[in-house]
Amino acid sequence: MDADLPLLVAALRDAGADAEPVFWDDPDVDWAAFDLAVIRSTWDYSWRTAEFVAWAERCAALTRLANPVDVVRWNTDKRYLGELVRRGVPAVPTRYFAPGDTPELPADREYVIKPTAGAGARFAARYRADEHDTALRHLARMHGDGLTAMVQPYLANIDVTGERAVLFCGGRYLHAIRKAAVLESGVAYDADKVPHPSLEPWEPTAAELDVAARALAAVPCAPELLYARVDLVDGDDGQPCVMELELVEPNLFLSAAHPASVPVVAEAIVEAAAGVTR
Ligand SMILES: Nc1ncnc2c1ncn2[C@@H]1O[C@H](COP(=O)(O)OP(=O)(O)OP(=O)(O)O)[C@@H](O)[C@H]1O
Ligand SMILES: [Mg+2]
Repeated sequence: MDADLPLLVAALRDAGADAEPVFWDDPDVDWAAFDLAVIRSTWDYSWRTAEFVAWAERCAALTRLANPVDVVRWNTDKRYLGELVRRGVPAVPTRYFAPGDTPELPADREYVIKPTAGAGARFAARYRADEHDTALRHLARMHGDGLTAMVQPYLANIDVTGERAVLFCGGRYLHAIRKAAVLESGVAYDADKVPHPSLEPWEPTAAELDVAARALAAVPCAPELLYARVDLVDGDDGQPCVMELELVEPNLFLSAAHPASVPVVAEAIVEAAAGVTR
């Protein structure tokens, strides 16, 4: 359930817009009747990414889609993290293993396995170096489902400094939050997890803002982003690095942490609907 949606719809109507929440996969929606389609809580798409991207392509041909379809296509596959690293942006070091690849697991430290298309920590788990058998069963299950796996070092600083999400809207900094670590040792990959534990508003540091800005500058085909979220954790060197770049359907944490940002987001949506870009 998206607690932000009713707040945004009310703020958009207050601002004079004709806002209507619809389901992305509803075949009866007349997308061409809208000035703008804003992707919000389509959190079921990671189960059917190809279908979602195909919908985004159809929708973008009928109306203005936010964020743009090229960004949606790029951002629904977490192999973009490797691309960010190649462009000089600090990001969590990641190895990718597609179905058919022989996985190599770290022998000397804790690590994380998760899918390249994920949300809500689905299919993510943390393993010690002596848990390879369990980890390989996890990988086999993902490969059986046709999913590509990501293997990352478990960045233990997250247990101390948490994860920060820096949000942007209408081309400007909006607000930030911090949350605690999600993955606990010994919890099965298919167990339900609390996706945003101990969520709180956060004042980002200069280093966090710098990495967030560099990450967004490295996004290809992204002249205009209506909204963006950059998730950061501290690497082993203590410096922030990108864990995830959320350009498709980021939770903006409005009701959970920043209700004062609701009218700011609504205004940016109204401007985007009118074709104003900043
Ligand atoms: N390399 C890592 N080191 C430490 N913790 C990690 C690592 N990768 C993932 N996690 C933990 O698992 C959580 C989910 O991972 P991630 O954000 O990459 O996946 P997701 O499924 O897209 O989740 P969500 O959509 O909820 O953000 C993170 O918020 C973090 O707490
Ligand atoms: Mg995340």
